[in-house]
Amino acid sequence: MIIGVPKEIKKDEYRVAITPAGARELTSAGHMVHVEQGAGEGSSIPDAEYVATGAKIVPDADEVWAGADMVLKVKEPVGPEYHRLSLKKDQVLFTYLHLAASRECTDALAAAGNVAIAYETVRLPDNSLPLLTPMSEVAGRMAPIVASHHLMRFAGGRGTLVCGVPGVEAAKVVILGAGVAGMAAATLAVGLHSSVYILDRNLERLRQVDHHFRGALETIASSTHAIEQQCADADIVIGAVLVVGARAPKLVPDDLVAGMRPGSVLVDISIDQGGCFESSRPTTHSDPTFKVHESLFYCVANMPGAVPHSSTYALANATRPYTLELANQGWRDAVKADAPLAEGVNVVDGKITYRPVAEAHGMEYADLDSLN
Ligand SMILES: NC(=O)c1ccc[n+]([C@@H]2O[C@H](COP(=O)([O-])OP(=O)(O)OC[C@H]3O[C@@H](n4cnc5c(N)ncnc54)[C@H](O)[C@@H]3O)[C@@H](O)[C@H]2O)c1
Repeated sequence: MIIGVPKEIKKDEYRVAITPAGARELTSAGHMVHVEQGAGEGSSIPDAEYVATGAKIVPDADEVWAGADMVLKVKEPVGPEYHRLSLKKDQVLFTYLHLAASRECTDALAAAGNVAIAYETVRLPDNSLPLLTPMSEVAGRMAPIVASHHLMRFAGGRGTLVCGVPGVEAAKVVILGAGVAGMAAATLAVGLHSSVYILDRNLERLRQVDHHFRGALETIASSTHAIEQQCADADIVIGAVLVVGARAPKLVPDDLVAGMRPGSVLVDISIDQGGCFESSRPTTHSDPTFKVHESLFYCVANMPGAVPHSSTYALANATRPYTLELANQGWRDAVKADAPLAEGVNVVDGKITYRPVAEAHGMEYADLDSLN
């Protein structure tokens, strides 16, 4: 099979869908890998590293798409890429798609008549999303870092050193949500020697967190009362809650922020689901913060975009086994053998095979089994 990896062209996207390790596994298995010239540049992976694995560098994007049996990408195709979707018949596209949010992209993929498999809908039996998890881990680990930076005076914060110094207390960090991002944030916050309090409404989850950290942080059952109490004297609040398929619940109202310490920093990781603080609105890396009362809000919707090198490796590590299955077995046999991967199939030959996408756009849903 020929696997094509184009350079991402969506604005501010610097990740690439394959690392040299992934290219090497594919070439070792007898496949050919065509990487667009400069595709890895944004992630600090030079073309030469791909060439060393047996991959071929292709100068032109159209050529990559036209020659590939499977295209690996990071982001959903954007307008200038739509004509490329039908350059090769029976092609498989494996990438983040988020089709429920874009009728335009759904129509473009349906019109192309090929196969589109979405990273974000691959789902394991325990309901976890293995190809979204790495990005929650990146955002979670980044949160205490960006918050500590903004806690500094020149960055608009209270002027507190997150870890304290002998004789002076460390910052108090409150984390709302003990899922993937919340746990990642807690790991870094504990590592930074801050005083960490993590809240979740799932007590079983808090038991696991308590066991994992062995006393290095406090777990607290989430309630309106507990959130008010914990945020009142916090230096940093990190919002990391998720209710699957719904907007994030607004857990931190404005009047609570009004009573918080001046210069405190609130990082809303959940901003991509609408945000869990009342006044949250999406921001960008070039202008990441704004003031609410006397506190600083950081609400970047694409936090992993700041660290494309790490994010590329984290994502590609997770996609690699699925990519190999698809390449070795072909998509039909691969999804027959791997039910979680089958959940990723969103579009086949013009038909929508992922029910939430069909429902979101009032389109007809086709059961994948009926197409096999
Ligand atoms: N901003 C970014 O760049 C970025 C990057 C990656 C992920 N995210 C977002 O981060 C959020 C968290 O993702 P995740 O993978 O950690 O989710 P997750 O499902 O692993 O964890 C969410 C946790 O929130 C808890 N929760 C839900 N409602 C709650 C409530 N009312 N009070 C207290 N706890 C509550 C759940 O019990 C769960 O433990 C998601 O919205 C995700 O889309 C953002």
